[in-house]
Parts: sequence; structure tokens; C-alpha cells
Amino acid sequence: MGIESSDSRPVILDADPGVDDALAIMLALGSPELDVLGICTVSGNVPLDIGTGNALKVLELLGRGGIPVYSGAGGPLRKEAVYATEVHGTGGLGNSALPLPDRSPSGDAISFMIETLSARPGEVTLIAVGPLTNLALAEARAPGVLKKAREVCVMGGAVEEPGNVTPVAEFNFFADPDAARQVVRSGTSITLAPLDVTHRVALAATHLAEMPATPAGRFVMEAVRPAMELAMRLQAGRRFFLHDPMAVALAIDPSLFRIETVFADVETEGDLTAGQVVADRRSFTVDGNRKGPPVRCAMDVDAGRFLALFLSRIFPVDV
Ligand code: BDR
Ligand code: CA
Repeated sequence: MGIESSDSRPVILDADPGVDDALAIMLALGSPELDVLGICTVSGNVPLDIGTGNALKVLELLGRGGIPVYSGAGGPLRKEAVYATEVHGTGGLGNSALPLPDRSPSGDAISFMIETLSARPGEVTLIAVGPLTNLALAEARAPGVLKKAREVCVMGGAVEEPGNVTPVAEFNFFADPDAARQVVRSGTSITLAPLDVTHRVALAATHLAEMPATPAGRFVMEAVRPAMELAMRLQAGRRFFLHDPMAVALAIDPSLFRIETVFADVETEGDLTAGQVVADRRSFTVDGNRKGPPVRCAMDVDAGRFLALFLSRIFPVDV
């Protein structure tokens, strides 16, 4: 379980580790506001078995090998799998070389989600930082189960910001647009951390230079550096966006963000448009006439406060 305090909130973290997923795991486990019940894995940045191994590796690094890992969907609902190994490396964790611990996943992610949400209706926050396939499969198997979450915090989509995989789509929604649409339409209370907000905070080369000389500090440096060099070549900026930690921060302290309610749906088809968030922001339309359900979207963040929180939680002073 996580570092609990008396009022810590139970959370399930669903991820496709992935470098920034690893940072999201570190942030969640370093935060006393959250009690991590388990980590679910899904195909996304890397194939499922690699991502599952990475979750186990990161937990071991943090000395939290007691937290269960549940393995989920091996690919999207309908389309072919796409991966992001050019960003995260073929092993998913950059140039790091963490050992794979001698323990196996504790079971199936979809069953774990259904059982946990059903046993504690209204209590458990679901934080999803990969393609939404596991959540969609849980909803398909147990209709209404996502509404039993206290809240679903999602890293995904792009509302006004351009996409990062196609001109209009963000990776997690692009990788499984059908799942993204089903989750958005599920009627649960969703708060999105889209690219509009995740593109506002990044680690810079100076942060890497200041990493603590600890196993966790070395891991972050080795994991992040290749993606930062790639960003330098392709985007002319040596930086690493903290996408997934932002969805965790939504669960820790929503006051870090400016959150707007946006009527939104997800496009599932189209060579140019699959995975696009279609936000109905028509000025001459009343809310009752808008396309798509209301979705809470973080559209701005106090970047300084977020970064300070993030660094202090992933590198606590007493470790
Ligand atoms: C998202 O895509 C993945 O590559 C990252 O882990 C993050 O979840 C950003 O678009
Ligand atoms: Ca991710």
C-alpha cells in the first residue's frame, strides 16, 4: 500500500510504463494523500509484458515490492497496437537498466478494477495514464462499474492544443480511440489532464544535472535523458514533458490546476482524425444542445507549484 495518512485516498493507477508513467508511479507512491491499492498495466508505450515488467522494476527500486501489479489488455479494442518506443526506448525506461524482480503480476487488471470499485463504491479514484483499454473492458464486462469510482483522472487528449502523434491526436487517445470514447461516454466523473496542460511543465537539462546521487535519482536521469535528446533533435527543445505525473497531481491537489467543464467526445475514425478530442465550444449553442458529455478538463496549471510538489515527492529528503 502507499504511504498512508489518516485521510489518504485509495487509488488504482493504470499505466503503460513508459518513462513518464514511471515518474507517475514515483509521485503517487511518494504522496501521503494517496493510498495506491495496485498498479494495472496496459499495452501502450511498449508491449504489455514489457510494461508490466517495468511496473515491477520501479516498485522494487522504490522498496515497495508489496504493491500488487495487475496485467491488463495486450492491445487496443479494435485497431492495431501502436507503441512509442522511439520516445521511451525499446525497453520502455530509456537507458536505465533496473533488474527485473523475482515476482509475478498478482492477477488480471480488469477483474481487479471491477472487484475493487464494486467493493468500495464512491471511494476509489482511478488514475489512468495509458490507453484506456482496461477501463473500457471493465465497463463492458460490468456495465456501470466506472461510475462506482470516486473520480477518474486521465492523462489523455488535446482540447485546444495540437496533438503529439498526429496533428490533432494525443498518444493515449490515438492508441485506443474506441476505448477513449467509451470511457468518456460512460457517465463517470472524469477529469482530464490533456496536452493543453501537460505541455506547460517539463523537466529541463538543468533538472537532470541536479538529480540526487541516489538509486532513484540515477534512474530518473538514465530514463529521461534519451527522450530529452530526441526532443532536442525533433522539437528543438531539450526537455521532457511530465504528462503522466499531472494526472496523479489532479488526484493529489486539484487546486494546482484551472479546470474547465468542456462538452467533449472522441473521434474514432479517420486517417487524419482518429483519437481527436472534439470539444463543442460553439458560442451560439446552449449547453443542453452540445455534442458529447461534460468532461472536466485541466486547461492550465501553476507550473512552479506543480514542479516543486513533483520533485519533493519523488525525491523525499529523508531517503
Ligand atoms: C502520453 O503518451 C505516452 O507516451 C506517455 O506515457 C503519456 O501517457 C502522452 O501523450
Ligand atoms: Ca503513459
